[in-house]
Amino acid sequence: MRSCSSSLSVLILLFSTFTPVSHPDVSPLKVNLLDAATLSCSGRCPGLVRWTVFHKPMDTLAECDQTSCRSVKEGYQMIHDQYLKGNFSLTITGVDFSKRGWYTCDCDGKDLCDARLQIQPLNTPVQIKPTESLILKLDISDPVEVIYNSTVAANRSSGQICTVDGQSLQCTSEYSQRVSAALELRGMKPSDSGVYSIKDKRNDEIIHAYTVTVQDDPSDLDGCKGAVVPVWIFVLVVILLVSVIVVLAVVIRQSLSVNRTEGEL
Ligand SMILES: *[C@@H]1O[C@H](CO)[C@@H](O)[C@H](O)[C@H]1NC(C)=O
Ligand SMILES: *[C@@H]1O[C@H](CO)[C@@H](O)[C@H](O)[C@H]1NC(C)=O
Ligand SMILES: *[C@@H]1O[C@H](CO)[C@@H](O)[C@H](O)[C@H]1NC(C)=O
Repeated sequence: MRSCSSSLSVLILLFSTFTPVSHPDVSPLKVNLLDAATLSCSGRCPGLVRWTVFHKPMDTLAECDQTSCRSVKEGYQMIHDQYLKGNFSLTITGVDFSKRGWYTCDCDGKDLCDARLQIQPLNTPVQIKPTESLILKLDISDPVEVIYNSTVAANRSSGQICTVDGQSLQCTSEYSQRVSAALELRGMKPSDSGVYSIKDKRNDEIIHAYTVTVQDDPSDLDGCKGAVVPVWIFVLVVILLVSVIVVLAVVIRQSLSVNRTEGEL
């Protein structure tokens, strides 16, 4: 009996570790990092309306009753005028990665609305040269996976290449030799060009996509850059020469006219 229940709890542990927690099926509100978000909810409530994080129903973020509204946690706000009209929206200021997730609004303990907040994936174009390293910032400390989608026409592969969970970094054999710090992919080749996405495993959402192009500087551009400096030097030398000639001409002309007046005297 004991072994049965312990293996059951192991199963439950495995289950809760490896499958995302089930949540209400609501379409997420997506905002940009550091923007404000307004989670909407409307209805009738004669008593206390509270917003909480979905899985922490005891931790009130903000609440309203007939007399007033209170921000219990900084950065979460409800408006009393709106509450009186049956608009129980919650405004969250400065949305960062820690504020992603599911929220719930209740009236005197009875569930009114569920809402999900997401951050628009950050998108960073990266241009590097062959043999250079690609550095990917992970942004969050939650477990993530790194997904590679090739943009090389000959080889359109895609899939997970690494996972990062706390201090533990695991990459497929193809990549493990090339990844040093969690974020650095060494020896990039033109055929490594593509989109590298950092995906939050727990919430199954992309948080950052790097569009990477690995390319040598075109050689004609190089030649052009090389020619820029000599052109300036050339122009400078010409200006110097011309001014020297002008000064010389003036001096010679003056001394000639002095000679002439001396001769006339
Ligand atoms: C509800 O209140 C929020 C502010 O809390 C406001 O932004 C929103 O426009 C209101 N919605 C309606 C339908 O009035
Ligand atoms: C990468 O490829 C997968 C499957 O091939 C696709 O579902 C996903 O949308 C692609 N991601 C990007 C950023 O192109
Ligand atoms: C195509 O993909 C395979 C396996 O991922 C790899 O060994 C090969 O070098 C790639 N070819 C090119 C041209 O990138």
